[in-house]
Amino acid sequence: MGKQLDNERTMSNRELFKKLFVFLKPFIKHFILALVLILAAVGLELTTPLLYKEATAEMTNNTVDLGKILACTGLMVIVFIVTAIIQFIEAMILQRAGQGIVYNVRNEVFRHIEYSSIEQINQIPIGKLVTRVTNDTATLNMLFTDVIVNLVRSVVTIIGVIIFMFACDVGLASYMLIIMPVILFATFFFDIFARKAYRKVRHNLSHLNASLSENLSGMKITQAFNAEEKQYREFKERNNKLKKSYSHQILLMAIYRPFMYVCYAATLFIVFWFGGKSALELAINTGDLTGIGTLLAFYLFIDKFFGPIQELAEQLNTLQSALASSERIFEILDTPSTIYDEDDVIELEEIKGEIEFKNVWFAYEEDNWVLKDVSFHVNPGEVVAFVGATGSGKTTILQLIVRNYDIQKGQILIDGIDIKRIKLDSLRSKFGQMLQDVFLFSGNIMDNIKMHEESITDAQVYQACEYVGANQFIQKLENGYNEIVRERGNNFSSGQRQLLSFARTLVHDPKVIILDEATANIDTETEVLIQASLEKMMNIGTMLMVAHRLSTIQHADKIIVLSKGEIIESGSHHELLQTKGQYYKLYKIQYEKNIHFNENQESL
Ligand SMILES: Nc1ncnc2c1ncn2[C@@H]1O[C@H](COP(=O)(O)OP(=O)(O)OP(=O)(O)O)[C@@H](O)[C@H]1O
Ligand SMILES: [Mg+2]
Repeated sequence: MGKQLDNERTMSNRELFKKLFVFLKPFIKHFILALVLILAAVGLELTTPLLYKEATAEMTNNTVDLGKILACTGLMVIVFIVTAIIQFIEAMILQRAGQGIVYNVRNEVFRHIEYSSIEQINQIPIGKLVTRVTNDTATLNMLFTDVIVNLVRSVVTIIGVIIFMFACDVGLASYMLIIMPVILFATFFFDIFARKAYRKVRHNLSHLNASLSENLSGMKITQAFNAEEKQYREFKERNNKLKKSYSHQILLMAIYRPFMYVCYAATLFIVFWFGGKSALELAINTGDLTGIGTLLAFYLFIDKFFGPIQELAEQLNTLQSALASSERIFEILDTPSTIYDEDDVIELEEIKGEIEFKNVWFAYEEDNWVLKDVSFHVNPGEVVAFVGATGSGKTTILQLIVRNYDIQKGQILIDGIDIKRIKLDSLRSKFGQMLQDVFLFSGNIMDNIKMHEESITDAQVYQACEYVGANQFIQKLENGYNEIVRERGNNFSSGQRQLLSFARTLVHDPKVIILDEATANIDTETEVLIQASLEKMMNIGTMLMVAHRLSTIQHADKIIVLSKGEIIESGSHHELLQTKGQYYKLYKIQYEKNIHFNENQESL
């Protein structure tokens, strides 16, 4: 999933079709039936020129057999009606199969993304992932409902026409062979150019999408920095590139179609020029219209021949885009998650909550060590706080315990068991995580706290909210617990979001609580609430926390001070104050700032 391919295809067609077949297999009956229907429809359609020929031949001299002509006309009407019915049924069958396949693919892709590691997801812009699940699967639908069958239809029609022509008149049919190389040559070259043009369009489109989704997420910042014009210019430039590449693609199409039209006219001209003379002579001299009938049939055959030829190039083009889309989809599906369960993992029923880091080394990017030889031990029920400058590795430590990332060296143990040996969902179910930036889903407050866990009752939610003090603001909302939460919870303040995340964690009954406190400013009233509920939560079980206000962590059993990924001090609040090291300095700064702040407040 790491590589982003907009331009190049790396899988061979064979490989791709093999993979696609896995999705197609449950619907194979639909496709076979559709193909049979296509063959029937094409066969039926191709009989119409012959019926024209028969009817014309009947008009010899004055002995017109009206009955036969009417019979031919009647047959034609039947052929048209039956063909239309067949086409309807075939389209319905294919649509059903195509939609079924794409439904499965969309589910599969989403599921796969859900189980990918955070590292892998971070590597791909969200805009691109959205495109994978929606646009690319839609293109895939086209492959099944449109491209493959139409290609088959075109090829069958072209071959059918050639056979019918030769069966009808070998002499006239061989004139067709003159024009064939020109058509093949032109289609071949067109295909090459069209493929290039298509890749360019894809590339520019995906750049535009990525920049769009980033811009939409960051609109607040854009406006805050008055960067609208600059971002607009950048967008305009990308948009312009996209427009140009589309124009180029359209130009190719615009050349191909008229060119084929000229070929069509030339073929008609050749056939009528060489075949017309003898047919006319026959008709004038003997009154026999057979030759004219054959010419008429050829006129219709040529028409039926060039129809699919004109579409063939477009279909090949669509085939390319559908294959490129399916490759991008398989690129996701074929990339296993970097965080996965080994075969011999164990399920944890209960844990005591003992945590140990043994000489842990970790780097997000190779050799750029973010944690260097970190070791610490947390007893069950203890509260441990991490302190340190920004970027010192606090969040990283918390992420490693729940295996958002795997460490490179050392060991992390829960109750004495290496976390790599514990089943991932069983490991994570024991932890309640409150992250640095709280994420709320669109929906309502109740759903956001329950997070789809059906065993949690409303009463438990009320209780948890009361415990953490979230009920105070929820009760003031117009719809209480049913208050709508907008995307990312942007209709709540960051303090409120944090209280909701406390309640969310609590109600899931974790054995270990992980708290990464936000640095964002919170109003004093909410801050008092948060402080109070934090202190309460310290009694629930083992707790690992990052708190920026040192007053919060004074009661922690142990405080670990980090600097540039290394532990430089650890101990209780009082022990650390006595050693007069880094913690003492930090505490003094905050303490003095607070006194200063309080003095200012009082003098106001
Ligand atoms: N996903 C990532 N990919 C690469 N590097 C990262 C990633 N996340 C964090 N880092 C780097 O790891 C280091 C530690 O980051 P971390 O988030 O653990 O800091 P922190 O102590 O939590 O800081 P803060 O107090 O600002 O939250 C930083 O230098 C950061 O640049
Ligand atoms: Mg952090």
